[in-house]
Amino acid sequence: MGACQRLGILEPVGVRRAAVTDASAVRALLEPAMRQGDLLPLVPQNLQRMLHPFGLEWCAFVAYSQGRAEGCPESLRDETGSTLTGFAGLRFWTPTHAEVRTLCVGVDAQGQGVGRRLLMRLEAEAALRGAKTLFALTKAPHFFARFGFEVVGKEAFPWKVSGDCFGCAKRAGCQEVAVSKELL
Ligand SMILES: CC(C)(COP(=O)(O)OP(=O)(O)OC[C@H]1O[C@@H](n2cnc3c(N)ncnc32)[C@H](O)[C@@H]1OP(=O)(O)O)[C@@H](O)C(=O)NCCC(=O)NCCS
Repeated sequence: MGACQRLGILEPVGVRRAAVTDASAVRALLEPAMRQGDLLPLVPQNLQRMLHPFGLEWCAFVAYSQGRAEGCPESLRDETGSTLTGFAGLRFWTPTHAEVRTLCVGVDAQGQGVGRRLLMRLEAEAALRGAKTLFALTKAPHFFARFGFEVVGKEAFPWKVSGDCFGCAKRAGCQEVAVSKELL
């Protein structure tokens, strides 16, 4: 159990649009999952795109816990002193197809509904922007399955494969599974 959980400060959790000023805390939040191989390394330019306030094709959200608490790393704090607990990005590939990018909950905050809240927020945002299909390439397909996503072939998203997968250093032996959900 992490220090933050022991201190019981991970409630209440809020979700808000990620901002440029969150970049450093977001990188700190994502680093353990990337080091473990749960997430692919995030291209710096893509993080900038996700954090851009007027992005049309990209956006992102952070989950946060209010308040300062002893024991939580300074590196996860945002401008207001809240602690970032999760991150999730959205990328539109076509006017109707959006991808869940870099969904990650900090180790201390996992298992408390943060991932669920972030995914719900992404779904709402995707639908608001006109998406009919929300998809992800993930090593955690069972998490997505809980929210109505189904495993599909990557060939369903040819622009994703040619745009990202072809240039990926981990393409040979890729362990990511494509999951997809039709939005109402
Ligand atoms: C996968 C991840 C986002 C889940 O976030 P979380 O905040 O721990 O998940 P939640 O607490 O919101 O769980 C919601 C539900 O999903 C289930 N769940 C969580 N992680 C799961 C997993 N890896 N596999 C299957 N089910 C999972 C929970 O049991 C819960 O079920 P319930 O509704 O029956 O209670 C988080 O573990 C994480 O960031 N992992 C590292 C990065 C990663 O793998 N990202 C995957 C997306 S690319």
